[in-house]
Amino acid sequence: MTWIPEAASNLAGKVDGVILVITLISIFFFVLISAVLIYFAVKYRRRRDDEETPYITGSEPLEIIWTVIPSILLILLFVYGFVVYKEMRTPPKDAVDITVTGKQWLWTFDYYNGKKTLNELYVRQNRPVRMIMRADDVLHSFFIPQFRVKQDILPGRYTQLWFTPTKVGTYDLFCAEYCGTGHSQMLAKVIVLSPEAYDIWEKGIGVDEGANVASLPPAELGAKIYKEKGCNACHSIDGSVVIGPSFKGLYGKTGVFEDGSSYTADENYIMKSILEPQEEIVEGFQPVMPSFKGILSDDEVTAVIAYIKTLK
Ligand code: CUA
Repeated sequence: MTWIPEAASNLAGKVDGVILVITLISIFFFVLISAVLIYFAVKYRRRRDDEETPYITGSEPLEIIWTVIPSILLILLFVYGFVVYKEMRTPPKDAVDITVTGKQWLWTFDYYNGKKTLNELYVRQNRPVRMIMRADDVLHSFFIPQFRVKQDILPGRYTQLWFTPTKVGTYDLFCAEYCGTGHSQMLAKVIVLSPEAYDIWEKGIGVDEGANVASLPPAELGAKIYKEKGCNACHSIDGSVVIGPSFKGLYGKTGVFEDGSSYTADENYIMKSILEPQEEIVEGFQPVMPSFKGILSDDEVTAVIAYIKTLK
């Protein structure tokens, strides 16, 4: 089926099965009822002006049939749906845990082995994983269409879901709950690695070293981070103000903080803004930026600064 997203998890085929059965039954009854409706409307139309409507009191057998058959169908659909739902809500014992945090407007993933990634979720093909999820601020929703999994995440409460990715590849992860201005930019990638590739990734050290990132020149790496780590949700590169200050012409700029003190946007100012964004707020902006401490490495912060310098 090409009119729905690719099925790339163990649950996808089961969810599709339920939807297919419900859709086919709905189509069957839609066609049946429409056909009978049109047939009767034509057959029993009023032919003459003085024609009288016949007096019909009802039919018990008919009423029993059209009550009992749909009831049985609905009960069967419920049982079918419930069996699949129960499986989706019951993680297998051998599932590994990944902690997911959603916040305006990015995703972070903390792995069982201490690794941490931003807007990139790494999972191993054919191994069940359980997402333990929490929001830092407002309601968000964790949604991977190709895996057919979706779950709201809330501040102050853990929710969970699980899946087993079945196909190597890169898939989209969306926030599916309107959570503010940057909602449509709250995107991440799910990277399903083959067992061998995953073992290599798992043994890697440091913070989220994506493939061959280290070999990029700093400004190019910065541009990549800008797009992939969610900076673009709040900071434009064309001078327009989205949520935070634009990166265009930022380097070297002077301005005033909320408390009235002034600043010059040099390397240290930008680094501090990335790592401790709540410390000093530029006048006219809201204190909404999350800290990237522990999420971006020193090299990556340097790369972002190099990138900002190119945006004159
Ligand atoms: Cu987070 Cu929408």
